[in-house]
Amino acid sequence: MNAPDIKTPLPGPKARAIIERDSKYVSPSYTRDYPFVIARGEGAVVEDVDGNRFLDCAAGIAVNSTGVSHPEVVKAITDQAQKFIHMSGTDFYYEPQVRLAEELAKLAPIDGDVRTFFGNSGTEATEASLKLARYFTKRQGIIAFLGAFHGRSMGSLSLTASKAIQRRGFAPFMPGVYHAPYADCYRCPIGARPESCAAECLSFIEDQILVHLISPDEVAALVVEPIQGEGGYVVPPKQFHQRLRELTKQHGILMVVDEVQSGMGRTGKMFASEHFDLKADVVNIAKGIASGLPLGVTCARADVMTWPPGAHASTFGGNPVSCAAANATIKLLKEQLVANAAAVGDHFMQGLRQLYEKHPLIGDVRGKGLMIGIELVRDRHTKERATDERNAVVQAMFRRGVLILGAGKNALRVAPPLVLTKAQADEVLKVLDDSLTEVAQARLAPAK
Ligand SMILES: Cc1ncc(COP(=O)(O)O)c(C=O)c1O
Repeated sequence: MNAPDIKTPLPGPKARAIIERDSKYVSPSYTRDYPFVIARGEGAVVEDVDGNRFLDCAAGIAVNSTGVSHPEVVKAITDQAQKFIHMSGTDFYYEPQVRLAEELAKLAPIDGDVRTFFGNSGTEATEASLKLARYFTKRQGIIAFLGAFHGRSMGSLSLTASKAIQRRGFAPFMPGVYHAPYADCYRCPIGARPESCAAECLSFIEDQILVHLISPDEVAALVVEPIQGEGGYVVPPKQFHQRLRELTKQHGILMVVDEVQSGMGRTGKMFASEHFDLKADVVNIAKGIASGLPLGVTCARADVMTWPPGAHASTFGGNPVSCAAANATIKLLKEQLVANAAAVGDHFMQGLRQLYEKHPLIGDVRGKGLMIGIELVRDRHTKERATDERNAVVQAMFRRGVLILGAGKNALRVAPPLVLTKAQADEVLKVLDDSLTEVAQARLAPAK
């Protein structure tokens, strides 16, 4: 399938009719940035119900790791569905779940023996890790980060601190959660200079939270994204994670790493933690693990995951069809797609650096593999956030046939399926180039 290929005004008539129905019956809480109604897809190309084709840089919010309906994943799903669709791993056994747990024990960025709890989503993985941390440590406090996204169920929402709208109207939250600044070196929370700083923003945890608010021996877990996703695709310095690891070890706090968005090959390594030489106690994984089937897992040190039968479970968690999809996904990732994410990600980043020279709207480009953030600013010196311009670029790219999402207040997130080719990456860069030009010109045009 070739893309971009836009044949109708957007949305086309069929898309318009479906959106009309959706607007009457579907929860209005969803954030649809543009009117894309999928009919089918292949690799990194998606086609809407009117036959318009788009290059997909959103991947169903960083989920379709192997592309849309990869034949090997579809085969694994079909084979499993023909045998049995559900049995509930909470009460019975099935081999695909055991196989996946064995594989994750080898891959998860955790030292020593590893056990896995199976849920259905990222937020359930977060919930499981919170419960496990409290159960294991017999402590209550949790440290999380400003800008973080860990999910929307009540426990994980208490940690999520990305956009106020996600929390507005839902208080009270889980007590005992403390938020610290994340190491965003482009916008340093303490005004330090990256070249002479050793992740000094961590002093907020050491000298403020653990001194004024909660004693370290009451903190069960510190929950952190290796690269902040929803918060803006922010890549912290290696020292940030290294020092967090030392801090948690020093106080017997469990380090929970949320690899929901950054995991499963997206960063050009199986897990983003590997870029930081980080080994955690608990690792949460979801999104890309099963190429789009619902699955969320919590991997933990075997000596930490010691809760007894009945302590935690989920009827659908680790569904056999999802496990089969995950086993096929991991095989594809290991064989070629992690390497492809690294190679195409590098290629994309080189192209972005050229666009940086050309477009003053680009304030920062950052990322690993195919997890790339592009922060737009009105002025490179003041770093005034170009939120309206970012939103306009998202729309302009859609009109030109590229699906892309925002992240944080003013960044674009490039999160395509990991099957993206260099030629497709070049197409995306061209569309981005044209869209940035359009938006910059509109800004300069005198108001009518
Ligand atoms: C880092 C991170 N953790 C957790 C979640 C929650 O995942 P889910 O939407 O599957 O509940 C997300 C979703 O965007 C995420 O990006």
